[in-house]
Amino acid sequence: MRSAVCPGSFDPVTNGHIDIFERASKMFDVLIVAVFHNPNKHPLFEMEERVALLKQATSHIPNIKIDSFSGLLNDYVRKQDCKVVVRGLRALSDFEYEFQRALLNKKVASEIETVFMMTSSEYSFVSSSGIKELAKFAGDISELVPPCVAKAIVQHAHKI
Ligand code: PNS
Repeated sequence: MRSAVCPGSFDPVTNGHIDIFERASKMFDVLIVAVFHNPNKHPLFEMEERVALLKQATSHIPNIKIDSFSGLLNDYVRKQDCKVVVRGLRALSDFEYEFQRALLNKKVASEIETVFMMTSSEYSFVSSSGIKELAKFAGDISELVPPCVAKAIVQHAHKI
């Protein structure tokens, strides 16, 4: 069975992420979306909320599994008996960071490949941080995030 892990913070999930999930899920039997618990970051949405929003927003994708992990991505990917990591790339500015991480990961786990997917052009400017900033100042995010996220972010706007 061909599976891939799509890791990220997803704080919160955006339509740009959903686009990558929809396209990547067609290339694998199972796509595991894994939310990283980063001890150095204070997310807007708690882990349980991020997982719940991802589950709601991807309920139309039959072969997707939503999970969470802490520690090293490579260790998690190995535990899933998986050999592919999928990451979305929006712009050249993403490239350097992603390239460096992919090489670092490859150095310590040579059997795991990182595969990059270009974002669809309509989402190339969408980021979780941009969404949070728009929401903070009551900007319209309805076309940029799934409806469940648009609703949830209103309840969290005072914390941004
Ligand atoms: O959505 P993000 O914040 O860009 O996702 C970053 C993520 C979760 C993919 C990255 O931080 C990660 O892989 N973290 C796990 C820890 C790890 O393996 N670090 C070593 C890689 S160099």
